[in-house]
Amino acid sequence: MQAYQGYSKEEMIKRKNELSLKYEDYKKQGLKLDMSRGKPCTEQLDLSNGLFSHTENLFAQDGFDCRNYGLVDGIKEAKALFAELFNVPEDQLIIGGNSSLNLMYDLIAKAFNHGLYGFEKPWSKLEKVKFLCPAPGYDRHFAVTELFGVEMITVPMKKDGPDMDMIEALVAEDESIKGMWSIPMYSNPTGITYSDEVVRRLAYMKTKAPDFRILWDNAYALHHLYDTPDKLADIISLCQEAGNPDRVYMFSSTSKVTFPGAGVAFIASSRANIDHLKKLISKQTIGYNKINMLLHVRFLKNADNVREHMRKHAEILRPKFEAVNEILEKNLSGKGIAAWNKPNGGYFISLDVYEGCAKKTVQLAKEAGVVFTPAGATFPYGNDPKDSNIRIAPTYPPISELKTAIEVLCVCVELAVLDKILA
Ligand SMILES: Cc1ncc(COP(=O)(O)O)c(C=O)c1O
Repeated sequence: MQAYQGYSKEEMIKRKNELSLKYEDYKKQGLKLDMSRGKPCTEQLDLSNGLFSHTENLFAQDGFDCRNYGLVDGIKEAKALFAELFNVPEDQLIIGGNSSLNLMYDLIAKAFNHGLYGFEKPWSKLEKVKFLCPAPGYDRHFAVTELFGVEMITVPMKKDGPDMDMIEALVAEDESIKGMWSIPMYSNPTGITYSDEVVRRLAYMKTKAPDFRILWDNAYALHHLYDTPDKLADIISLCQEAGNPDRVYMFSSTSKVTFPGAGVAFIASSRANIDHLKKLISKQTIGYNKINMLLHVRFLKNADNVREHMRKHAEILRPKFEAVNEILEKNLSGKGIAAWNKPNGGYFISLDVYEGCAKKTVQLAKEAGVVFTPAGATFPYGNDPKDSNIRIAPTYPPISELKTAIEVLCVCVELAVLDKILA
């Protein structure tokens, strides 16, 4: 990016002085705005209050008493609902507890402690385990793999998914590369959806490690903002077709369909992977929360009804995403100092500011009372090599607060750049 092309030094100094006054003005307002996490807002949560209105009995359709122990892989009707929504056979699913992140953590713990289906030995017995980490990505993914001592390799994200040339070259050569994080639809934070070609290449690529596994975090599969949703290829079928049936584990949850923290999560994979996993899980629990599964199915009913419910979420979220885009456009476009995405779904807008300015921008915003996700958090080890990416989470704040927060952010972006180039 060529910053402030066509501006003279004097014009830049003048601009900086104007912005400094504006910034000091914001500081005096004593703002306390938190833009750091992608949470649904109260209005969105209210859409699911009906979840509790079908407690007349707690028996599943086949008569199973959901109040009691049992059914380690979940109740039949929850499997049927997720199978329909995510296009996977019912017997290739385990319905879990409230959190898909917990299922991902748990899968990695099992890969280290016991080994998964198709492993020669658990990863803990190996000298080194490496993971491919498309970035910018989800900070909590990277925190999990860091905790297990996995060496994380940053893979740049492109417009159609992660850099596949780089991935294919790496996995073909290095047997210690055992896994890869993926957020294939409306990715956190870049908002992109992997192209069919990228998904196919992931399913078909040759890997030196026979136990290479993809954690396919399909968190935003249902979270479209418009009536022209992105489409994601079916990686489980493609892996099967490619002769790599056990390569991928898919995760998702209703955290942002109903309630984060009190939703229902699931894991899907090949039948062999799921059968093996069920045996391991049966040692840690006699069953997840089946009452919650039952209430969810009664409330959400079927795939069409879920899609209708998600349209109501989109109606609440669309104006917020569009407001952010408009403010960024008005303040930052044409200056060569920032680029951002206009996502078709998901929970984030990813803002790339002039290289070397993200940390400074976030710090300035914080000092003015507006908290963003720490710069760098979207990269393994919190290290954004270009110090450029800032994640904007527009969903939670009321729109008036959101607008103020983004106005402040724009001032901070410009101040950070001007500071750098005038230094
Ligand atoms: C990509 C991604 N995966 C998983 C989660 C958390 O999901 P859950 O609430 O099901 O644990 C989030 C939450 O922000 C997310 O962005």
